[in-house]
Amino acid sequence: VAVAHSEDRPWLAEGEQKREAVQQMFGEIAPTYDLLNSIISFRFHYRWREAAVRALHLKPSARVLDLCCGTGDFIRALRRRIPERQILGIDFAFPMLEIAHRKAHVPLAAGDACRIPLQRDSVDAVTVGWGIRNVPDIDAAHREIFRVLKPGGKFVSLDMARARNPLIRWSSELVSGKLLPLIGGIFRRRKAYTYLPQSTKCFRTREELAESMRQAGFVDVQYRDLCFGNICMHVGGKP
Ligand SMILES: C[S@@+](CC[C@H](N)C(=O)[O-])C[C@H]1O[C@@H](n2cnc3c(N)ncnc32)[C@H](O)[C@@H]1O
Repeated sequence: VAVAHSEDRPWLAEGEQKREAVQQMFGEIAPTYDLLNSIISFRFHYRWREAAVRALHLKPSARVLDLCCGTGDFIRALRRRIPERQILGIDFAFPMLEIAHRKAHVPLAAGDACRIPLQRDSVDAVTVGWGIRNVPDIDAAHREIFRVLKPGGKFVSLDMARARNPLIRWSSELVSGKLLPLIGGIFRRRKAYTYLPQSTKCFRTREELAESMRQAGFVDVQYRDLCFGNICMHVGGKP
């Protein structure tokens, strides 16, 4: 059953099956990822990352890990604040990393968010954009992020959320449930753009994510809605 889920309905897959399904899916959609992101968000995704980077209050000397870096758009926002050599991007989908490599001259590494290939207390900040929803074990990823952060370091995550207002939630889910697979289908990416709204429905609530961060050790955990509550930004610090 789990295998069938990972192939046909990857948003229902769990554990190792989810890891494989997600890795394969992002490997396949890499060439059209940036274009579709801009189409479905009307290019607002750039602004949301800028807001997340501002929330980190980075010093110019900060070393930052962009985890689940994908094609490197968070790196692009970070480069405006700190030199490229202080940014590291990690992702487990090589085709996404290849595109990131073309866009930014920062160190990039293949690695899993649940087993980050860095020593403890290595970086001043960690950014994750639309990655946490996709990892097979969210609590483990939060613990790993906490481990690699230096004391005093900050973590920010942006991801999809379900709008709190029932009317907005109903209309957003209607539009994204119908329109995204349609747009994805035009680019032969129907499964991935069905995964996006479906995985958002199965995703943890903003409160549950904040609690998972606290359990991992984060303090001053806060979250802020963007895009009428369809996107949520979580921030936390390591004491
Ligand atoms: C929706 S994309 C977001 C990319 C980028 N952060 C952005 O802001 O556009 C999610 C990325 O997370 C990566 N990812 C998902 N699960 C992962 C994991 N367990 N370890 C490492 N990367 C992962 C995928 O390969 C993909 O590149």
